[in-house]
Amino acid sequence: MSDRKPTIGGNWKMNLHTGDAKALAVGLAEAVKTDAVDVTVFPAFPYLAMVAGVFCDAGSQIKVGAQDFYHQANGAYTGEVSLSMLKDVGVATVLVGHSERRHVIGETDVLINEKVLAALEAGFEVVLAIGEKLEQREAGQTDFINYAQMCYGLAGVSAEQMSKVTIAYEPVWAIGTGKTASPEDAQAAHAAIRGCLSGIYPGTDVYATTRIQYGGSMKPANAGELLAQPDIDGGLIGGASLKVEDFNGIITAAQ
Ligand code: G3P
Repeated sequence: MSDRKPTIGGNWKMNLHTGDAKALAVGLAEAVKTDAVDVTVFPAFPYLAMVAGVFCDAGSQIKVGAQDFYHQANGAYTGEVSLSMLKDVGVATVLVGHSERRHVIGETDVLINEKVLAALEAGFEVVLAIGEKLEQREAGQTDFINYAQMCYGLAGVSAEQMSKVTIAYEPVWAIGTGKTASPEDAQAAHAAIRGCLSGIYPGTDVYATTRIQYGGSMKPANAGELLAQPDIDGGLIGGASLKVEDFNGIITAAQ
């Protein structure tokens, strides 16, 4: 067992509407009562302030994160949301590089790195998502893709700043598909990611202290096996984060 504190994130994506988001936040504030696991939920922009308010009013330990942001300071960027606006509404963490931002929205490695650097500069915790597509796994490129995405995403990030960074390994083929990586395959990918960190930050303990979440169809039924792996420090949860009992079941498995 590592001395890295378990960390569970709930990525609500573009799901839920006001009533559901408030009900989920209230339900989580009542159900999640642990200090043994860091818990962050990532609502869609319109619900960030409301969800942060629910957790604050309930005295909950659950943090609120943003699924995205624009990396420039406030200004003429129609439709965008800045880091200072996120701070205004109580957001402490940002998710960067999610595969849906990469492969659906088309965010480049350069933009992802700019977002990582801007968020760290502004004092945010950063969850950097990486992961291979099915054809890349089938071609034996999993570790290469993860290494490349970390090299690009972490360019210019100091060893000291890495204390604010969590890596989320999300094999794209396991996201929302019900096809979860086996505990052995997930552990192998996480161990390789940790090995890459020792190469990117030689002579430091970054490889040992950085937390690596697994994401991709983690459910209460499989969370225990995955979270028992030595290099899996938590999970980034999509579908199962939308129900209080499922998300809390995963948090319980992480303790
Ligand atoms: O960011 C987490 C998400 O991509 C995982 O989704 O539904 O496979 O748990 P899901």
